[in-house]
Amino acid sequence: MNAYEQLVAEAQGRPFAAIVGWPVEHSRSPALHGFWLRQQRIDGHYGRLPVEPKRAALEELVGFLKSTPNARGCNLTLPHKIEILPLLDHVAPVAKRIGAVNTVVKLPDGTLEGRNTDGFGFLEALKYNAPHWTAASGPVLVLGAGGAARAVVASLIDEGVPELRLVNRTRQSAVDLGVAFTPADGRRIVVGSWSERSELLAGTTLLVNTTSLGMKGQPALDIDLAPLPRQAAVDDIVYVPLETGLLAAARARGNRCVDGLGMLLHQGRPGFEAWFGRKVDVSTEQRRVVAADLGA
Ligand code: ATR
Repeated sequence: MNAYEQLVAEAQGRPFAAIVGWPVEHSRSPALHGFWLRQQRIDGHYGRLPVEPKRAALEELVGFLKSTPNARGCNLTLPHKIEILPLLDHVAPVAKRIGAVNTVVKLPDGTLEGRNTDGFGFLEALKYNAPHWTAASGPVLVLGAGGAARAVVASLIDEGVPELRLVNRTRQSAVDLGVAFTPADGRRIVVGSWSERSELLAGTTLLVNTTSLGMKGQPALDIDLAPLPRQAAVDDIVYVPLETGLLAAARARGNRCVDGLGMLLHQGRPGFEAWFGRKVDVSTEQRRVVAADLGA
């Protein structure tokens, strides 16, 4: 049985979606969508689909989703989020702007639409966990300029942040990101050097880490938080471990902290609603179940 046949067999004729990646064994998406399927008593399935990073393999995926009546769509993770774009019938404006798709929805006419819900997930998690933070109240510092940073920067700009400060180890990537997302209304994206990351904290309302630093198996994020105002929030999108060194240090000095699990859970909501027709929210029970699945 190949992976497609296995997924169809697991679904047993029920509507289904899946996480598609290479590798895909470690994804937590089945745990978070499985929680909602059980909670909502929906007779559906959410599985895993390993798909090789080759155009022909992605074309096979697209053909499978279209030709399988009970397939509702999928999530995409590394390394497919960008390569899938030209193969889809429609790409939602936000996904086009970010340049990546994490959610594919089969529309009623059988065509496939690519969406990006990472920025939505990031903002929702921030609003739930740091409700005092408001976009308009001051500058925000974002560390990193990779794929995750694109969704974070786009959503912060759309939310109305008046000044965004961007630093990345490779400065040119931050410059490119700044150029791509500077709005036409006069608000600024200021690019600093990686060595300036601490001093750029002065006067900010929010610090976001989108780098892989602090993740299990990666070096720690080395940053002096002294210039960061105590009222500022600190958001680390890393979720293994849940309490990164950055969050522990920020919490110890009284800053409000947001961990990466919230973003992971909230980014799943729009896909679930589109595939299974039910609005869902994130709960402490779901957090507990997915965190246990992470071994966190
Ligand atoms: P993602 O899709 O999760 O954002 P990515 O696109 O590989 O992953 O981006 C990883 C980010 O972590 C980048 O901003 C990267 O900096 P570079 O652009 O200079 O590579 C950053 N990063 C990774 N390791 C780092 C390190 N040791 N020091 C500083 N930044 C690091």
